[in-house]
Amino acid sequence: SVVPVIMAGGSGTRLWPLSRAGFPKQFLVLSGDSSLFQQAAQRLADLAGPDLAVQPLVVVGNAEHRFLTLEQLREIRQEPAAVLLEPAGRNTAPALTLAALQARADGADPVMVVTPADQTVADGAAFNAALRQAVAQAAQGSIVILGVTPDKPETGYGYIRAEAGSGSPAKVARFVEKPDAATAAGYLAEGGYTWNSGMFVLRASVWLAALAQFRPDILRACEAAWAGRQADGRFVRPDKAAFEAVPSESVDYAVMERCPGSAFDIRVVPLAAGWNDLGAWDAVWQVGAQDEAGNVAAGDVMLHDTERTLVHASSRLVTTVGVRDLVVVETSDSVMVADRSRSQDVKHIVNRLAAGG
Ligand code: GDD
Ligand code: MG
Repeated sequence: SVVPVIMAGGSGTRLWPLSRAGFPKQFLVLSGDSSLFQQAAQRLADLAGPDLAVQPLVVVGNAEHRFLTLEQLREIRQEPAAVLLEPAGRNTAPALTLAALQARADGADPVMVVTPADQTVADGAAFNAALRQAVAQAAQGSIVILGVTPDKPETGYGYIRAEAGSGSPAKVARFVEKPDAATAAGYLAEGGYTWNSGMFVLRASVWLAALAQFRPDILRACEAAWAGRQADGRFVRPDKAAFEAVPSESVDYAVMERCPGSAFDIRVVPLAAGWNDLGAWDAVWQVGAQDEAGNVAAGDVMLHDTERTLVHASSRLVTTVGVRDLVVVETSDSVMVADRSRSQDVKHIVNRLAAGG
C-alpha cells in the first residue's frame, strides 16, 4: 500500500492579492469548485483500486494553517493520518523528510506518493495510469519523478533529460532545477527534456538514504526535530527550535540534481494529463473557463470590448472597457492590475510590501 503525502507549506506570493500569508494559494478555489489542496487530496484518494491500497493522507504544512487544512479535508470527507506542522517553512527537503520519518515510525517502509498542493490536472485517468507505473517502479527501490512535455522555456521548473535506450521508465541522465532563460531555451531547442512536475514517488527508506548521502546536515537536523516532536490528535509538531535550525533547501536541489550518475536509480515516467502548475495569474487564466473573447471572469464583473483578460472580483463590482491581455484582481483591501505576460513579476510588489513599501 502507498502513503500519499501533500506538501502544503508554500506561500504562493505570485498570486497576490488573493493569496495571503494567512490564506495561501493552495487553499484558494482558483479552478473548478474545490481548492487546489482539496483537488490534490482527491487525486491521491482516487489512486486507490482493487490492486492498490492507498493509506490515509499525510499533510506537511505550516502550523498557522492547521485548522484550514483539517476543515478543507473535512469538506471532502477525508480524515488524514497525520498533519505534520512546521513552525516555519524550511522548503520541501525538510518537509519530505518529516513525512518519511513519520512513514517509518512503526518500522514500515511504504512507497510514498508525494505531491505539491498547487497544481491542476485535467485528465484523471491519465494521471492515475502514470502514478501507478511510478508506484510499481518505486516499489523496486527507484526514485521516480514525473515528466511533462514542455511548451515554453519556463524558468520556474526543473528540467529532466532522459537517458536514451535505458528502458521504461527511462533513467534520468540529468536534472537541472530552475535553469536561467537562455539555458531553458537551449533545452527546448535541443529536445529530449521534460519538466519536473514536482511529484516524487519513492520508498521512505530510499529518501532517507539519499538525503544521508547528499545532505546529511539536513537529515541530522530533521531527526533532532523529529525526536522532540509532540503529538496532539492528528497534529504532530516537530521540536520548534530544532526545526528552525534545519537548513532550508528544496527536494530538487538537495537530492534530485545529484542523483543521476550516483548509486541511486532515478527514473522518469511521462505525465500527459493536462498538468498545470498554477504558479502565477496567467496560468489561472489559462486553465480557467474562457468565454468567446478569451476572458475569464470570477465574481461581480462586467466586461465590454475586453479580450484575453482575467478579472477576479471579491468584494465589489469590477468593470473593464477596451483592454486586452490584462489581469485584474480585486480584494477588499487591494486591487492589482498587471499585463498578463508579466504575471511572474507580481512577486516584486509582494517583496516591496514585505519590506514596508
Ligand atoms: N510543508 C512545506 N514546507 N511545503 C512547502 C514548503 C515548505 O517549506 N515550501 C513549499 N512547499 C510546498 C508548496 O506549497 C508546493 O505545494 C510544493 O511544496 C512545491 O513547492 P514550490 O515552492 O511551489 O516549488 P516550485 O514550484 O518552485 O518548484 C517545484 O515544482 C515545480 C513544478 O511545479 C520543483 O519541484 C520544480 O522542479 C518543479 O518543476
Ligand atoms: Mg510551485
